[in-house]
Amino acid sequence: RYLAPRTGQGGAAKLVIPAGELKEGDAKFFEFAGSSAVLIKTKTGELVALSAVCTHLGCIVQWVKEKQQFLCPCHGGQFSTDGSVLGGPPPRPLAKIPLTVTEGNITIG
Ligand code: FES
Repeated sequence: RYLAPRTGQGGAAKLVIPAGELKEGDAKFFEFAGSSAVLIKTKTGELVALSAVCTHLGCIVQWVKEKQQFLCPCHGGQFSTDGSVLGGPPPRPLAKIPLTVTEGNITIG
């Protein structure tokens, strides 16, 4: 259901996801530029794309829907929907990935 990543100008990989695929409060994981990434639609409808690679030692974070937070299974790092660190050992926020929304499609990267 995702369109395959394509190579855009400048060689950057882009991914297009129909905006309707994501409900408020949900997160979708996907492969982006050879790594794990996640797209979140917050409860207020804001869209955010983040690297899903924990900034501590590189585990892949999990989405905890009830808390609207990311949890790293390795050492308990916690991140908010904007990627900022809420707790645990991670030294930096999850990296943000730029996205644009046009005509019902979310373009990531
Ligand atoms: Fe995520 Fe250690 S790798 S908290």
